[in-house]
Parts: sequence; C-alpha cells; structure tokens
Amino acid sequence: MTTTLSVIGVGYLGAVHAASMAELGHDVIGLDIDAERIAALQAGIPPFHEPGFEDLLATGLETERLRFTTDYADLARADVHFLGLGTPQRADGFGADLSHLEAAVDALAEVLPARGGAPTLVVGKSTVPAGTARKLAARLSHLEGVYLLWNPEFLREGFAVQDTLTPDRLVYGVHDPEDPAAEQAVAMLDDVYAGVLQHQAPRLVMGYEAAELVKASANAFLATKISFINAVSEMCEVTGADVTDVARAIGMDDRIGAKFLRAGVGFGGGCLPKDIRAFMASAEEHGVGESLGFLREVDAVNERRRERVVTLAEELLGGVEGRRITVLGAAFKPNSDDTRDSPALDVATRLRTAGAEVTVTDPQALENARRRVGGLVELEQDTDAALRGAELTVLLTEWDEYRDLDPAQAASLVASPRLIDGRNVLDPSAWREAGWEIRSLGRAELPSGRPSVAKAARGGAFTARSQAALV
Ligand code: UDX
Repeated sequence: MTTTLSVIGVGYLGAVHAASMAELGHDVIGLDIDAERIAALQAGIPPFHEPGFEDLLATGLETERLRFTTDYADLARADVHFLGLGTPQRADGFGADLSHLEAAVDALAEVLPARGGAPTLVVGKSTVPAGTARKLAARLSHLEGVYLLWNPEFLREGFAVQDTLTPDRLVYGVHDPEDPAAEQAVAMLDDVYAGVLQHQAPRLVMGYEAAELVKASANAFLATKISFINAVSEMCEVTGADVTDVARAIGMDDRIGAKFLRAGVGFGGGCLPKDIRAFMASAEEHGVGESLGFLREVDAVNERRRERVVTLAEELLGGVEGRRITVLGAAFKPNSDDTRDSPALDVATRLRTAGAEVTVTDPQALENARRRVGGLVELEQDTDAALRGAELTVLLTEWDEYRDLDPAQAASLVASPRLIDGRNVLDPSAWREAGWEIRSLGRAELPSGRPSVAKAARGGAFTARSQAALV
C-alpha cells in the first residue's frame, strides 16, 4: 500500500530514509530549512558520499515518488511524518541540542490542523535523551488524530541504504503499549514498513523511554567495546603483546564476538562521540551520573589513542617540528566522506600544532576536510603525490586503496620509509621487508627486534627472566 509521507530534516539519516521510503513505493516529500541542500537533492546531487544512495535518489526523482521542499505547508497531505533532525552536542556542555527537533515539531504542528483530525502519525528517528519523546508528544497533544511514535535509527554510514531497507531490528516506542491508540499507530507504521518487515526483521514495541534508551545504549556499548580493546592496546604496548592476537582470540568467544574489536586510533564520526556524552549528561540530569561514569573513561581512552599517534611520530622522527608528515585518510572511517570528529583529522591537526608540515590525502573526504582544516594542513587528492617527499607516513583511515598499497612502490616515493599504521591493517613484515620502519598501535616494536613475550613463549624459551628482559 502506498502511503503519502514526509521526512523532516534531510541530513544523512533523513535523506537516506526519504529515498529508501520512495524505493519501497511510497509518495515521499523531504523537507529541510537548508535551501541549498534541498535544491541539490531535487537536482539529484547527493550532498554526501553513501554507496547506493545516488541511484535511489535518481529513481525516486524520476518516478516522481520523491520530491523536496522547504515549505511546511507542502506537508499537510502526508499521513506519516518522519523526524530525521540532527541532535548535535550542545555548545555549552555534553548534552544533546534538541532545538532543531523542537522547532520542527512546532512548525509541523502548525500545518496539522488542516488535516481535520484524520489519523496522522509522527515518527521520531533522531537519537534523543530518554524523556524527549514524551515531552514532544505533549507538544502535539492538542491536535486531534495525531500520534507520536519513536522509532530510533541504527544505520551505519557506508551501509546506510542496506541498514534502512534490511535492518537487524525495528524498535517502536509508544506512549503506552496497552493503549488502543498505540495499536493503531503501530499498524500504520507496519504498513509503511511492509517492504522491510517482509525480510523478517524483528519488530519490538515498547515504551518511549525504552526505545530511546535502546539507541543510546547500543551506541554506548559499541563505543565501550572499541575503547575496551584500545585500553588493552595500551597494555599490549607496555608488555610486548600484539593486540590483534588478543582481539582475534577473545573475539572467538561468541559471548564477546569479534566485531568492533579493531584496535587503533579509535572512534569518531557524527554519532558515537556525541552520543556517549549526551548519555552521560542525561544520566546526570536524572541524578544517576555515576551509573554511566565509566563512559568518561571510554571517551578518555579514545582521546589517548589519538595523542599516542603523535607520541609515536615524535619517537620515530626524534621530534616532529618542521618534519614532513603525510596522513593517509581524512574521513572518520572508510567508504564515507564524513569528517565529523574524525580521528584522522584530529591527529593531523595535533601534528601540525606540534610544528610538523602535514599533508592529508583521502579518496572522498577532502572537500569536507577543507572546510575543517583547510589552511592548516596541505590537502592532496592523489596518493602518490601526497607520499612524495614524506619523512613519515601515518595511516589513519583504512580505505582499501591504502590497505592495498605496494610497500616497495610507496618506499620509492617517500623521503624516508617510516610508517605508523593507526588502524592495524597493514602486514608489518611485508612492509619491513620493503625497507620500512613501521609502528602500530597496540603492537609494540621492542628494542633491537627482540621477540615479543608471545613469540618467546611459542619458541619454548619463555622464562621469568626472558619476560623480565623485555621490560
Ligand atoms: C554508528 C553506529 O554503528 C550506528 O549503529 C549508529 O546508528 C550511528 O553510529 P557510524 O557512525 O556510521 O555508526 O560508524 P561505525 O561504523 O559505528 O564506526 C564508528 C567509529 O568507530 C569509526 O571511526 C570507526 O573507524 C571506529 N571503529 C569501529 C573502530 O575504531 N574499531 C572498530 O572495531 C569499529
């Protein structure tokens, strides 16, 4: 069944959601207050790099199932309204800034009376602190026929289309699961998602606060998992262990699982860092700040890994002042052009602040990088040109083209074959064979090539004395 629906806020989440809903056969209108973004989308130009999105956008526009506007009055015909607005970190603290969301709900409330009480569903998708949905529902409670449902989004950048059309699960947060009005709202959203539910995605109905907490805790758990292995990395560096050995072995326990145990320069992006901070701020507001106090440590471990790269660079070069350093990667992760809170750009900036001459290269994210660090560091699209003359190369975003670099060819370009693998994706022995001095996070390079504790143990030569000798 075709539903007429709107998506308010067509940033990353909203734009992908709008195009995906059109793909499911619905009549979709996307709204944003950013006229430039709306004009670009209406012209079929994706404002970000996301595999598969451009095609969905083109099909949606061609079939006229998808269009865009800046005018709330165009939304009155829609039966379902998705809220895809951003909830960035507040300028004055850790909490989430809900002003865009609140403004959108108020603007929508102005046009809803034109529906004359016809059943209308408003569906929140943004990541919000527990308690937000109930407050927003109160802002709409004077409108007859309008129901607010909270349906958090779990999409990953780089897999956004796939995660929207074939999600692991759908979570519906309602005012009161026992209430018949909730049942009607759930049925309405089930109709919209019929094409998603047919892939057997589990659909869970719960209270508003639980739905909000599902999203906050999922992201906090993922961030904790990354910082956990990065904390272990710090132990590996001082004991001579290889964190990739540790991660592989613990990941084989399916209670732990292998995913999100990739040690390196840590997490960034538009979600994990701000979401763990908003979660802590929310716990504090509810008077249980100590419950999530450990997330402060999760944040601190993540921060320390970035600084560790700078320390390694200083060790390798005997000081970075005036030295030429090439950073491979600007995006916060591969297959994305997003540079929000990117560990790569943060490290590049730190190296520059310490006095190095820094060149950053990235296959997709240089335009966004220019807006953040242009003028501070050199930006070079071509990998070979970026490598030319480098005294130190630092891999910080694991794009395939950096993983696949030929160490001998790369050595012929740089001034000195020194490398820091900030994502543990290169084979250190292949790079050493090609003449590189290579350091990684969580894989200590022991003095004068002595074997690590693990290797000594494998060789049967492990004694308390040989272990002590390594310290
Ligand atoms: C995340 C959540 O995964 C997603 O469910 C949520 O909806 C939004 O936030 P995303 O920001 O796209 O998605 O990135 P994700 O793939 O989770 O990676 C986040 C960061 O963690 C990246 O900087 C990545 O490089 C880093 N990371 C990830 C690691 O350092 N190690 C890992 O093992 C995994």
